[in-house]
Amino acid sequence: MSTLRLPGLVDAHVHLREPGYEYKEDFTTGTMAALAGGVTTVLDMPNTNPPTSTPARLADKARRAAAHAVCDVGLFVGATNTEGDAYLPVAPQACGLKIYVSDTFGSLRIDTLALMHRLFRTWATAADQHGYRMQGAEHGLGPITVHAEELMLPVCLALSQIYRVPLHIAHVSRRSEIELIRAAKERDIPVTCEVTPHHLFLSTADLPRLGARGDMRPRLATPDDVAALWENLDVVDIFATDHAPHTLAEKGIGVSEAPAAPPPGVPGLETMLPLLLTAAHAGRLTQEDIVARCADNPRRIYGLPAQPETWIEVDVDAEYELTDAALKTKVGWTPFAGQRVYGRVERVILRGVTVYAQGEVLATPGSGKVLFQESGD
Ligand code: NCD
Ligand code: ZN
Repeated sequence: MSTLRLPGLVDAHVHLREPGYEYKEDFTTGTMAALAGGVTTVLDMPNTNPPTSTPARLADKARRAAAHAVCDVGLFVGATNTEGDAYLPVAPQACGLKIYVSDTFGSLRIDTLALMHRLFRTWATAADQHGYRMQGAEHGLGPITVHAEELMLPVCLALSQIYRVPLHIAHVSRRSEIELIRAAKERDIPVTCEVTPHHLFLSTADLPRLGARGDMRPRLATPDDVAALWENLDVVDIFATDHAPHTLAEKGIGVSEAPAAPPPGVPGLETMLPLLLTAAHAGRLTQEDIVARCADNPRRIYGLPAQPETWIEVDVDAEYELTDAALKTKVGWTPFAGQRVYGRVERVILRGVTVYAQGEVLATPGSGKVLFQESGD
C-alpha cells in the first residue's frame, strides 16, 4: 500500500438541501459524505426551501450548519426574481452570490436583463465598500457564481467585464463554453470556471445505460464536448461535484408511477477523488492537477481561510468498485456505481483531529466551522 498525503479538499459546489429538503440530504449527512470523499470544506448552494436570499435565511442556515456539520461550510446567498438584492447587508458573510440564468432545480432562476444588470451593479457597489475577499484576509465579498449555459454565458461575461466583478462559471459542459472562457481569460475578463466529474467522465453515450441516473443540469454533453473539456484543462480552475442529491423514487426509479417532473441532479461528493485519481493512474492528469483544482484554486478564488493541521491520507493503489451501498449520502446512489477505480480515502485529519478513518466518520455534528460569520465589515 502506498499512502499519499494531500491537503483537505474543497468542494466549491454542493447542495446540502437544508432547510426544506432534509429527506434528500442534511448538514450532517452531506458533510459526512464530504469527509468520506476527502473533502474538508464545502460551499453550499442557496436553492433550498426557502432559498438563501435574505439576511434572516442566511443566519438560519448558518445556525443549522454550525450545529450539525462535520466539515467546514461556506454558504452562498442567491438572487431571486422577487427579493432583489435583499441579501446585500450580509454579502460579506456569504462565500459568494449565486445566480441561476439557465434551467435548474428550484425557484431561483433570474429571467430578465434588467434584474441581471441590477444584481451585478449592486454587487460591484457593495464591493466598492467591502472589497473582494482575498485569501488570508477573510473580509470582503466573494465572486458572483453563475449557472449560465450556452447564450447566457456571454451575457454574464459582459456584465463581469463592465462592472469588473470576479465571475465564476459553474459546471461548464460544452466545447463552445470552454472555448469562449479561454478567449475571455486571454482578454483579461476576471473569469474563472469549474467542471464536474460527471461532465469529465460521462457523456450522452452513457445515457442509455444510466437512464434517469444520468439526468442533471447542465445535461450530459456529447463525446466531443467532453473531449474539449480535457483539451482545455488549463482553462479549468476548479473541479467541483455539483453534489445534487435526489431520491431514486423522485427520479422514477423503483416506483410504479413515473413522476411528472423528475428533478435533475446527481450526488458526487464521495466519488470525485477516486475518479480523478483513476484518471491520474491512466496518465490523463497529474496529482498536482488535482490538488490545484480541488484545493489551491478554490481557496484562492473564494478567499477561503487556511485549515491548519488538516490533511487526507489516500491509498493510491487500492483498486475497488464504486457501489451505492458504501455511500454516506442520504440518497444512497451514484451514477458511477459499478465503475472500478483506484484510490481510497483512508483517513481525514481536520485541525489535528482524526475525523474519518477506515470508512467511519468520527467527528461529532457541530465540529465543522461555518466560514465568514465573524466578518461583519
Ligand atoms: C441542482 C439541484 O438539484 O439543486 N441540479 C442539477 O441538476 N445540477 C441544481 C443546479 O445546480 O442547477
Ligand atoms: Zn448545482
